[in-house]
Amino acid sequence: MRRKIIAGNWKMNLTLSEANAIASGLKEKLPSKTDAEVMVFPSFIHLPSVSSILGETNIVVGSQNAYPAALTAMTGEIAPAQLREIGITTSLVGHSERRQFLGETNEICNEKIKFLLGQGFRVVYCIGETLAERESGNTFSVLSTQIKQGLKGIESALFSKLIVAYEPVWAIGTGKVATPEQAEEAHAFIRNEIAGLFVGGKEVSESLQILYGGSVKPDNIASLLSKPNIDGGLVGGASQKLDSFLALIK
Ligand code: 13P
Repeated sequence: MRRKIIAGNWKMNLTLSEANAIASGLKEKLPSKTDAEVMVFPSFIHLPSVSSILGETNIVVGSQNAYPAALTAMTGEIAPAQLREIGITTSLVGHSERRQFLGETNEICNEKIKFLLGQGFRVVYCIGETLAERESGNTFSVLSTQIKQGLKGIESALFSKLIVAYEPVWAIGTGKVATPEQAEEAHAFIRNEIAGLFVGGKEVSESLQILYGGSVKPDNIASLLSKPNIDGGLVGGASQKLDSFLALIK
C-alpha cells in the first residue's frame, strides 16, 4: 500500500514571515498523525527557520534543488552536506521551471539524483511534457526519455528513496489541471516504464509513489487521488496559502 503524499512547492514565493506563518499554521492546525505524508519545499534561505518551526512535527521539510557534489568551490550553489547539517535530507530535482529557464537537462538531473540518493537523501524527481510536446503526440516519448536518462544507472535498492512527480508543464500555474484520466494515463505509463527498466523493476515500480502536479486545488485533488496510480500531489500555488494547503491535506 503506497502512502499518499501532499507536498507544497513554495518556489521563489513567500517572504520569510509568510513562510513562517504557514509553517506555524500547519504545526498548530494539523493533527500529529495524518494519513498522508506532508512535505514543504521552501526557498533555501527559509529552510532553517521553517524546519525549526516544524521540527517536532511529522512534516518533512525539503529543498527545491541541491548541487551534486561535496563541499567545494561552486559559487552560488548549495551542497547536500550543507543541507544535511540543518536537518534537510529531501530534495526536489528537475522541476520544469529549472529545466525551462535554467538549462537543467536530464543528464544534470541524473547526476543530482545519483549523488543525493548516494548521500541517503529522498528525491522527488519531476518530469512532464510541454504543451507543444503533448499536442504533437510526444508525451510518452518525452516521459520515457526523462525516465531513462534521469534515472540511468540508479540501483533498484535506492528506489525506496525516490518519488516521481508527473507535472505536465502546460498545467503548472495555468489553472488548467490535467483531467484525472489524463494524469492517470501518464502515471500508469511512468510506472510501467520503470517496471521494465530495472532489475526487480516490477516490485520497485509497484511501491514507487508518483505524485501529480499542475494546478492542484482543494476542489480537484479528490478526483485525482481517486485514480489507482496517483499517489499524491506536488502543489504550487494552493500550498502557498494556509487555508488551501490545509484543505488539500484534509
Ligand atoms: P501549481 O500548483 O501552482 O500549478 O504549481 C505546480 C508545481 O509546479 C509544483 O511543483
